[in-house]
Parts: sequence; structure tokens; C-alpha cells
Amino acid sequence: MSRIAYVNGRYIRHADAGVSIDDRAFLFADGIYEVIEVFGGELIDETGHLARLERSARELRLNLPAGEGALRLILRELVARNRVTDGHVYLQVTRGAARRDHVFPRAGTPATLVAFAHRGDRAAAEAKAQAGIKVISMPDIRWKRPDIKTTSLLPNVLAKQQAREAGAYEAWLIDSKGYVTEGASSNAWIVDEEGALVTHPADSAILSGITRARLLQIAAAKGLRVIERAFTLDEAFAAREAFISGATTLVMPVVALDGRKIGSGAPGSVALGLRAVFHDFAPASP
Ligand code: PDD
Repeated sequence: MSRIAYVNGRYIRHADAGVSIDDRAFLFADGIYEVIEVFGGELIDETGHLARLERSARELRLNLPAGEGALRLILRELVARNRVTDGHVYLQVTRGAARRDHVFPRAGTPATLVAFAHRGDRAAAEAKAQAGIKVISMPDIRWKRPDIKTTSLLPNVLAKQQAREAGAYEAWLIDSKGYVTEGASSNAWIVDEEGALVTHPADSAILSGITRARLLQIAAAKGLRVIERAFTLDEAFAAREAFISGATTLVMPVVALDGRKIGSGAPGSVALGLRAVFHDFAPASP
């Protein structure tokens, strides 16, 4: 079965899908995106992801080429055509194709809309969570609006590659004051000595994760204390537990940071507990 992608109104073989070399995302990374988890064939927290897509578009003065209802239909169609039970859908909107010029193209230039799906491996993800991941830290050299989910991800790509080469899965980014902002492709959390969850506030320094928001709700329902404040690397070293959150990783325990054990060096019970109940709380959209 060949994979099927969506490009500007058409469903085509993934291998044949393409956009213009004049596309502004290719030339300027002038685009926005979302990644949504598919679990049991359902799109998890789709409403939150589509709301954030709309916000990203507004912040960048980019016109979405399809309304929310149409986007939902496209994503469902991709899940069905690719027979995805567990995996992800990726959705990207760019400012369209136009002769290269930094300023916006003339009004009426159609935005580009691309979406595709990929299958995941639920068992492999669970095994990874049971083992835990390693993280390294590095300076946060991104622009000052990482709250916008743009395809402009070069610092994230470099950070993630450096992590990979150091035998780690994720990089935690450190701001100029020494605080952990977030991961290269996830939000960062610790469980402090009193058992409280600590994560950076959802201000302009981080992407306001949809998984993060869901976890705040789950923590409240479970009676866990949460403090939304920035934490330092030293606090992370001294933490009982650490974990990351995101649509591709859900809750993934961190067992080592810069080569130092976190807690006992094994995945923590708070992180694994949150992971275990995540889908009981995170709704599939209608
Ligand atoms: N990344 N922070 C960053 C920088 C991210 O790229 C992501 C998600 C998150 C978590 O957001 P959410 O919970 O809404 O997935 C936080 C996606 C999965 C990616 O780029 O693949």
C-alpha cells in the first residue's frame, strides 16, 4: 500500500507529492505546522492543535486556506487512506509560492497546504518510556518567538542532532539567565523534592504544548501540585524525576541529564503514572 499525502486540494502518492521551488517555506521557512497524535485511529486533542494553528497563522499574518471543518476532514481522510491506527498526522501551511522577495507576496497569493500521515509503533514507544531517555543541555539560541509553531526550526534541528551525536534523545535549551526553557521538540518538566511538578510558564519563551496543557489538567485531576515557573539546570540535577512532553512522545521519562543520573536513574513513578492515564483524559475530537 503506498502512502498518500494531501497537497493543495489533492490526495496523491506521498512519493509524488511536491510543492514549487518558489514556495516561501522552502525559501524563507515562512510557514507554520502542527503534529497531531493518532491513537486507535482517533486524532488526539485535535481541537487544541487546530486552535494553535490558527493562532500561529494570526501571529504571522498568514491566511489559512481552509477552515477548521475542512482541515478536520482532510486529516480524517489521511488517517483512513493511510490506514493509520497509531501514529501522527503532520499539517503545514505556508505563505504560498511567489517570486523570491522577503516582503509578503501580493494579496490573493494562495497559501500552500500540505498534510501527511505516518504510522507509529505503540510497543516501541512504550519500551522507550520504560527505559527512559537521556537529555543534554545547550544554549537556547532561537529567535524570541518560539511560542509560534513555525517551520523555522534550524536551532532545534542543530540541538537535536547534537543530542543524537552525544547518545541522547533530546536537548534541553537554556536561556541567558540559566533557566531551562524547553526541549528542541518537546516541553520540559521536573518533579521537585516535594513532589511538585515544575514546568516553564507558557509565555513567549516556549511553545505552549497541547500535551503540556493536557498534563496540567490531568495533574489537577489527580491532585498533583504543579508550579508553572522556570527551573535551572541545577534544580533539574537535584530533581526526583524529569520528563518531556509532546504529541510525538506523550510523557517520556528522562533518566539522565548531561551524563548525570536524574533521581534513581530509572523512569519515575509520576512520569510513568501520567503516561499511563494520558489517553483516559486526552479526548479524540468529534
Ligand atoms: N513538537 N516545544 C517544542 C519546541 C516542540 O517542537 C513541541 C512539539 C512541543 C510540544 O508541543 P505539543 O505537546 O503540542 O506537541 C514543545 C512536535 C511534536 C514536532 O515538532 O515534531
